[in-house]
Amino acid sequence: MDASNPATALAIDETAEAEGRVKIMARGVNVWYGDTHAIKDVSVDILDRTVTAFIGPSGCGKSTFLRCLNRMNDTIDVARVTGEIRLDGEDIYAPGVDPVQLRARVGMVFQKPNPFPKSIYDNVAYGPRIHGLARTRADLDRIVEDSLRRAALWDEVKDRLNEPGTGLSGGQQQRLCIARAIATSPEVLLMDEPASALDPIATAQIEELIDELRENFSVVIVTHSMQQAARVSQRTAFFHLGELVEFGETPQIFTNPRDPRTESYITGRIG
Ligand SMILES: Nc1ncnc2c1ncn2[C@@H]1O[C@H](COP(=O)(O)OP(=O)(O)OP(=O)(O)O)[C@@H](O)[C@H]1O
Ligand SMILES: [Mg+2]
Repeated sequence: MDASNPATALAIDETAEAEGRVKIMARGVNVWYGDTHAIKDVSVDILDRTVTAFIGPSGCGKSTFLRCLNRMNDTIDVARVTGEIRLDGEDIYAPGVDPVQLRARVGMVFQKPNPFPKSIYDNVAYGPRIHGLARTRADLDRIVEDSLRRAALWDEVKDRLNEPGTGLSGGQQQRLCIARAIATSPEVLLMDEPASALDPIATAQIEELIDELRENFSVVIVTHSMQQAARVSQRTAFFHLGELVEFGETPQIFTNPRDPRTESYITGRIG
């Protein structure tokens, strides 16, 4: 890690660290895909009970860095991750850590909806079942209904819970994946452009959900919409060519960016 790099200094919140408000602490993270150096020495503090937005031009590494936070890059053969990432102080890349358990605590919603080839009900019940979160069928029914309601999908699917999730529309599939991700009550929810397939009404409902989740959890959202980042997040990170260029309070990033590259991006000159 380069402590003399001003972006590094900005991305590390010593006050929050001292107060124990840091949920995920990343230090000196690098990611390579074969010879492609996709993430370059990124250090950042993700705060508890806060929505953090990742913005930046296509290909700058937002998804790659997001996937480091719950070890989803483990599933990509050519990907190699170095550096340190701690969740509540514990190294998530330590030998004894089970990535499946980790991903119940740090859930993820992908840009492209990927429901399991199972019923709507079983998609949402999957996580609670494998992690033993429901004692009875009634418990499980409650978790499924509650998750679908919060994901703004319940009314559309309540009469066809046994039909396949893959038979839903794209936007409905995305809300199903959101329901599946929140069904395990993750402490952190990673969302990679979750609203890109949604209409304005569903988008507004998901933004409401994000705001609600923030009362108890930490949310990291990748978005190409500046308006969305400004609406839902309290902190924003701007990535460019694999580097974390700037990180700060969302209003500051959008009204008074410190780095000329951030300013160019938010005013539409690069991207
Ligand atoms: N599975 C992969 N294998 C090889 N290279 C990859 C892989 N995934 C991403 N990359 C490369 O890593 C870099 C960062 O990609 P990434 O998908 O993280 O960008 P992004 O900021 O999420 O872009 P977008 O806004 O288009 O989603 C790019 O150069 C991309 O080509
Ligand atoms: Mg991406």
